Amino acid sequence: TRAGKGNYPFYMEKEIMEQPEAIKATLAPRYVDGRISLEADGVPDDVLKNCERVCVVACGTAMHAGLVAQSLIRSILRMHMDVEYASEFMYMDPVIDDKTLVLAISQSGETIDTLEALKYARSQGAKSIAVINVKGSSIARESDYVMYTYAGPEIAVASTKAYTTQMAALFALIGRMAVVRGAFNEEQEKAFVDALMQAPDAIQQVLDRKEEMHHIARGLLEAKDAFMLGRGLDYAILLEGALKLKEVSYIHTEAYASGELKHGTIALITEKTPVVALVTQERVRDKELSNIREVQSRGASVVVLVKDGIDLADADYTHVFTLPAMDDVAMAFPASAALQLLAYYVSMDRGLDVDKPRNLAKVVTVE
Ligand code: G6P
Repeated sequence: TRAGKGNYPFYMEKEIMEQPEAIKATLAPRYVDGRISLEADGVPDDVLKNCERVCVVACGTAMHAGLVAQSLIRSILRMHMDVEYASEFMYMDPVIDDKTLVLAISQSGETIDTLEALKYARSQGAKSIAVINVKGSSIARESDYVMYTYAGPEIAVASTKAYTTQMAALFALIGRMAVVRGAFNEEQEKAFVDALMQAPDAIQQVLDRKEEMHHIARGLLEAKDAFMLGRGLDYAILLEGALKLKEVSYIHTEAYASGELKHGTIALITEKTPVVALVTQERVRDKELSNIREVQSRGASVVVLVKDGIDLADADYTHVFTLPAMDDVAMAFPASAALQLLAYYVSMDRGLDVDKPRNLAKVVTVE
């Protein structure tokens, strides 16, 4: 083993395990006297206050962090927000003007598609905040403002701690926006901060049970296809969970908004097809359970990841993994850690090179 992996067989596992510390490091500078502050980032309140819409440009995993943020911005700020693949941005006639706040999210800060999209948005008068892990990188230099994630170096090609620290930084940004735009009173800010500060501990609780997930992963080793089902925020989280699984295990995996399955590919759910259902939002529970029954009646083998306290009724699931209960908005943290572990163990037990999936590069500097 190379130096740097410590006692772990792969960087991916080490980086998954580092998440509680990485999130703490990312939140610390933005948590001042019990309140959210972006002062250390130099992001002025009027930038957060005066924009009329928000647009994320990012690729891959970073784009998925943007989708989680979108769900929050809509529900908390009641604001319009687009999330675009940076690689598609230029071909989609993006609606960008001087009232748009662009968020460029990137671990490396060198993804050319994201850099080009950011440059274009700025040329249209947009203000920008880059959420970046690598200090002084090209995207950081191009942006008006930068919020760094403090994930530390991420070596495994499949992104894990970069993603959850991007979420942590975005949550802080959204929290501050909610304060300056009057969407949060003091009490609401406090509740939000409390939930966010519990994220490292919630992730730790999932990581402490990694062998439970290892056991669940064994049920997927022979699969050719897998599906991940959820609604709302759960669906956004699963898009990244599905990317993770397919990247490192080569099992073709699709995240489906649960209600859409019947309009599309439910025919692909046959005997023993693995389905991972995520249920962290109380308000989607009833509908999600009926979607689970639909796929079970077609023979699917269903693993349910459920927030502690949500009643799954008396059905017979292949496995149930209980996620520590936090405020609904923060469930993305423990849920993501569980999905990362699943992908990791499937890849490892299939005997694959977890850290270097074929044909993928950590940093992509071609368009
Ligand atoms: C590559 C990596 C992905 C990553 C994406 C964006 O495709 O394989 O894991 O999410 O680039 O990278 P960035 O450095 O901009 O976050």
